[in-house]
Amino acid sequence: MSALARRLIRWQVRHGRHDLPWQQTRDPYRIWLSEVMLQQTQVATVIPYYERFLARFPDVKSLAGAPLDDVLALWSGLGYYSRARNLHAAAQVLVESWRGEFPRTRRALASLPGLGRSTAAAIAVFAFGEREAILDGNVKRVLARHFAVRGYPGERRVGNRLWKLAESQLPEKDVERYTQGLMDLGAGVCTRTRPACTRCPLAASCEARSEGKVEAYPRPRPRNPVPLRKTAMLLLLREGEVLLEKRPPVGLWGGLWCLPEISPRADPRAYCRRRLGARLASATPLPLLRHGFTHFTLDITPVVCRVASASPCVSEPGQVWLPVEEAAQAAVPAPVRKLLNSLQAP
Ligand code: ADE
Repeated sequence: MSALARRLIRWQVRHGRHDLPWQQTRDPYRIWLSEVMLQQTQVATVIPYYERFLARFPDVKSLAGAPLDDVLALWSGLGYYSRARNLHAAAQVLVESWRGEFPRTRRALASLPGLGRSTAAAIAVFAFGEREAILDGNVKRVLARHFAVRGYPGERRVGNRLWKLAESQLPEKDVERYTQGLMDLGAGVCTRTRPACTRCPLAASCEARSEGKVEAYPRPRPRNPVPLRKTAMLLLLREGEVLLEKRPPVGLWGGLWCLPEISPRADPRAYCRRRLGARLASATPLPLLRHGFTHFTLDITPVVCRVASASPCVSEPGQVWLPVEEAAQAAVPAPVRKLLNSLQAP
């Protein structure tokens, strides 16, 4: 066993995490759900979502049989909604092609929608005790530092080198503890900024540390400046109900319920007259709301539009009127939920 693996395993026993909700089980469904939620989201955020999701969908069959809308509603606020769409699609594949059972190997798991090599490996390790290497963002950082791997890990050459290193360190036994140790070290000690090297079991052999340049690894993604987009979201209100419309199934916020959007330069009154045949009693802008995506920043101008009481008002296919409190519970993205909640505040 490599010195790295030996030290990491010993450290995990004493200093690692042992009571995360998905560590108390070998149920591949639970482990799969946790790994997918943890792909882009931190542990503390994931836990309540994980518990709610399991309470509503305790197994693959219940998930496969549910409407996608219900799955997205439970995901609302977690972001990266393609994860929820893939989870739902994968549950249906499991029921239809695998008789509701999970395959046990990393390769077969990686054929399911939404599972890359590292997530598939984590499930194979934690649910089935397979001997597989993982390489998520935290592990890339640990290995890039320990072995002073230059270059941006998103480049194929650098990524391949890191996978080779990950495989080369994998112990023959205790792979679960070793894998959890890598995750725990990356999350709590070998952090992106201000790493706690004095608490690190690998400090003595860490090449980045001996160069005195721990924070220089891994090289960050070469970033283009993030563009700014602007939109206006209409909170159309009529008799205590608000108008939501469903986004197309793929793409940004795909399949989620959103507020009607217009250009911030457009006139909400003209929009409502033309699209809904409605006359507005008032159109009041709220303070700007900024939302960050990976690839751009969205500046939202919310406009509260009250439909005049005697006015006609139609809706189009894909639009629904919902009581405001019900709308805030629906499959809506985080900024929309925030706006709907602000309407309900006393
Ligand atoms: N991040 C990804 N998978 C994880 C796990 N199983 N435990 C803690 N953090 C994680």
